[in-house]
Amino acid sequence: MKLSERVFSVAIDGPAGAGKSTIAKAVAARCGFVYVDTGAIYRTVGLAVRREERDPHDPGAVAALLPGLDISFDYGADGAQRMHLNGEDVSAAIRTPEMSMYASAVSALPQVRAFLLEMQRDMARRQSVVMDGRDIGTVVLPRADLKIFLTASLQARARRRLAELAAKGDRSTYDEVAADMARRDHDDASRAAAPLRAAEDAVTVDTSDMTLEESIGAVYNLVRRRMAERDGK
Ligand code: DC
Repeated sequence: MKLSERVFSVAIDGPAGAGKSTIAKAVAARCGFVYVDTGAIYRTVGLAVRREERDPHDPGAVAALLPGLDISFDYGADGAQRMHLNGEDVSAAIRTPEMSMYASAVSALPQVRAFLLEMQRDMARRQSVVMDGRDIGTVVLPRADLKIFLTASLQARARRRLAELAAKGDRSTYDEVAADMARRDHDDASRAAAPLRAAEDAVTVDTSDMTLEESIGAVYNLVRRRMAERDGK
């Protein structure tokens, strides 16, 4: 097999609001890779738990739901990842501040992480991917070709998330968004199961003072360089 025929995997981890999904999506499009938003998968589990009126912190209650869940995703004509829960398109329903908190709660449960692990790994086996999340470089794809830890200051991240929510008509204030984000940062980084942290071999990219285009360019250049190194070997 020629080296260039091998699949290539890029793992992007980092805190909420660092620009992971926008940057990962743009880099995947430029490289012709598939973009996998793993946070959306956790959000879909969170939505199922909410709809079944279970406590998202209760491992037993959440674990009991998992075998009955039919979660899948595909890609629209615009390349956007669409999430399906039991056959229903829930791509919009999972993008609320409430679902952020539900996703964060269920993602702390080892049963949920184990349930979703194979689904994520399978994607990266079948094609070249840019996959973003919290534990992609550390747990899901420990042998990823390139691992990036994408981060930014809390202020920069809260400002960006506020603009995103405002564009959708959400009336949250800066203080609310920043407080939610600080709490999620803390919860995601301090949980026992796959806490958010940079993999030892990850390249850290801090986007606090970068424009979106600069951030995309920085990550894209890292991918190109690593691909050239790998194919040159
Ligand atoms: O990236 P996001 O905000 O859509 O993620 C929602 C939540 O899911 C976040 O609080 C952490 C969790 N998550 C995770 O634990 N592991 C992942 N690979 C992706 C997301």
